[in-house]
Amino acid sequence: MTSDPQQATPGSGSATATNDASDAKTAEKEVVRAYFESTGFDRWNRIYSESAEVNNVQRNIRLGHQKTVDAVLAWLQEEGELDKRGYCDAGCGVGSLSLPLARLGAGSVFASDLSAAMVEEARRRAEEEGLASDRLRFAVSDLESLSGSFDTVICLDVFIHYPQTAAEEMVRHLASLAERQLIVSFAPYTPLLAVLKGIGQLFPGPSKTTRAYQLKEEGIVAAAAGAGFEPVHRSLNQAPFYFSRLVAFKRS
Ligand SMILES: C[S@@+](CC[C@H](N)C(=O)[O-])C[C@H]1O[C@@H](n2cnc3c(N)ncnc32)[C@H](O)[C@@H]1O
Repeated sequence: MTSDPQQATPGSGSATATNDASDAKTAEKEVVRAYFESTGFDRWNRIYSESAEVNNVQRNIRLGHQKTVDAVLAWLQEEGELDKRGYCDAGCGVGSLSLPLARLGAGSVFASDLSAAMVEEARRRAEEEGLASDRLRFAVSDLESLSGSFDTVICLDVFIHYPQTAAEEMVRHLASLAERQLIVSFAPYTPLLAVLKGIGQLFPGPSKTTRAYQLKEEGIVAAAAGAGFEPVHRSLNQAPFYFSRLVAFKRS
């Protein structure tokens, strides 16, 4: 009975804790969104381009990130039948994966991002390349709000902005949208000083960035397993200042 304070107290206490956690999550996402609409957009748009206006750290991040994108494209091409499959690129940024996928003849690509600036730039690049079509669609959306069903769901270098529990929730949600395959990348947790230094330099200061999280791979794998997916490919893509674990899961 809620009128009994002794019964009501624990219930309302845990409701408060849940609300606090949810408020913190919403606040964290808003920081990420605001960053990628402004400073973060400028910075990452330059990194994910051929612009010469990058420093040494950014140039290395560009190289490392390209290795991640290339590894995904190689796996997908190995599987073949791209034209028969529907892909979802969750947190697509400026379209570094979606555009080449469309170029390779993917059946459909649905690319979405929390940041409207990122989506606008991805769309602009697609139009510039003559790739804009019904088979390549863009949307502004956080990945938690995505719905639908896709052969393969891919989420690259997005989890770095979220702590372990939030990232695992994201894995479960993305898995629920994937009919056959889920591919994710994240900065793996490791005690190595060199890695911490690398991550620190990737996001060099509070005024310029969001927090950066390293994630425990076993937690990510367990979240995927709980949703019925098992790892089939793993790679570690590196460059100075870039360190990203890529895992492809298939429905078991
Ligand atoms: C480091 S960039 C990676 C972009 C892209 N996946 C790639 O590899 O080229 C991270 C992207 O994740 C997006 N992002 C962060 N949190 C997100 C969320 N909750 N839902 C959707 N996108 C998100 C950011 O706006 C940004 O574009």
